[in-house]
Amino acid sequence: MAKPKAAVQYACSECGYAAGRWFGKCPACGEFGTLVEEAPADSRAAAAARPTVRLVDVVAEEGERIATGVPELDRVLGGGLVPASLVLVGGEPGVGKSTLLLSVLRAVSGAHRALLVTGEESAAQVKLRAARLGGAEGVEILAETELDAVCATLEQERPEICVIDSVQTLYSAELGSAPGSVAQVREAASRLLRVAKEAGVAVFLVGHVTKDGAVAGPRVLEHLVDCVLQFEGDRYHEHRVLRAAKNRFGSTNELAVFEMTGTGLVGVPEPSELFGRTVEGEVGAAVACALEGTRPLLLEIQALVSPTDLAMPRRVGTGVDPKRLAMIVAVLSRHAGIALGQADVFVNVAGGVRIDEPGADLAIALAIASAAKGAPIRHGIASFGEVGLTGRLRPATQAERRLEECAKLGLSAAVAPTGTKARGRLRILEAETLRQAARAAIDAERPEAG
Ligand SMILES: Nc1ncnc2c1ncn2[C@@H]1O[C@H](COP(=O)(O)OP(=O)(O)OP(=O)(O)O)[C@@H](O)[C@H]1O
Ligand SMILES: [Mg+2]
Repeated sequence: MAKPKAAVQYACSECGYAAGRWFGKCPACGEFGTLVEEAPADSRAAAAARPTVRLVDVVAEEGERIATGVPELDRVLGGGLVPASLVLVGGEPGVGKSTLLLSVLRAVSGAHRALLVTGEESAAQVKLRAARLGGAEGVEILAETELDAVCATLEQERPEICVIDSVQTLYSAELGSAPGSVAQVREAASRLLRVAKEAGVAVFLVGHVTKDGAVAGPRVLEHLVDCVLQFEGDRYHEHRVLRAAKNRFGSTNELAVFEMTGTGLVGVPEPSELFGRTVEGEVGAAVACALEGTRPLLLEIQALVSPTDLAMPRRVGTGVDPKRLAMIVAVLSRHAGIALGQADVFVNVAGGVRIDEPGADLAIALAIASAAKGAPIRHGIASFGEVGLTGRLRPATQAERRLEECAKLGLSAAVAPTGTKARGRLRILEAETLRQAARAAIDAERPEAG
């Protein structure tokens, strides 16, 4: 006999509209594909009122953060892992989520109890990875996908740190829907949140991402957790970038670079060394000094400008926001006298890093200008500054920090908006407009060889 089904509700994850049936398009806000299954609300007995307290009476002990043993990860988390917090780690398949978190468990297992709940791989598979990383003998492991069992184990065993790999494999039999469905993922996250706070377990949730990079499952998952970390980079390159998309205990601008090796992920403490080098005389390459959180980062930006017959020339950016790229191309054409109307423009940021910061605009513009003119940027020059729609450069924040980084890496000069104060031996090539910046940076005497 079929089990009697509880009444299912569907709610829009954007506007909260609820209905008894599913719609492809939300009748209230008009968004597509946002209606998700809601767990039927259980009828609760009337609760008694509770006393409230004033904030002044709240005893808050600033919990000591747990060092994860991966200094790069600690920085992205805002100075270590906060006890009893819930951290969601998202990333594409094979990017190295399990590897990173196993190395965290390995590092903390000496001083704390560390548990790995694996629903995706068998204990034997994890053992093989652990053998490759080495030294993870003290990590406890539980191969389980049933949510109730996982929560009960956490409540009883109370490890300091637990990794759930992955949240999409957990399922609760109460909810009828398949593992990985929106309702299941949300239920798993909210139950784990409760357990994390009550039992004092810091939980890392591994989350799969959809094709467009969002963590699979409703946005609600991101609201529930304390931190959302994104692990980026493609599996064909050895460099991976970890950044915080949300952090209740620190800045979200921090970024960490890792290198995938046979023995696991190795942090790259000086990514500027790696990504900030250009080859002398190369046309279409510029060095940007971007600011990621508390650290300045030198990045090589490459551009290619190629004539096209397309009515709509292409503007393709890897690691650059397409809208920003279109804007920079337009400003170059309109205010710097560089005609790009009949040309495809491709821009690439070194090392698979993505830049969101407007301070990198100038370097993108200079790389494109160099490619269009067929003349290289003078060697040993970095640049930073925001490009305005009028073609005027706007000062970038924390100029001193950027200049320090340029000097540290042995660059000789920096192109920067007027008003930037020089520091140390680094020369500043001040420019009021994009046109002036291009004139100062591009070595017109050295046209492309060959
Ligand atoms: N022997 C090895 N030497 C070097 N790199 C390896 C080796 N074995 C695995 N890798 C790297 O580890 C990556 C897989 O890492 P991991 O399993 O941690 O990824 P994941 O993000 O957990 O993937 P999934 O989403 O499938 O669980 C591979 O893409 C590969 O780059
Ligand atoms: Mg994995």
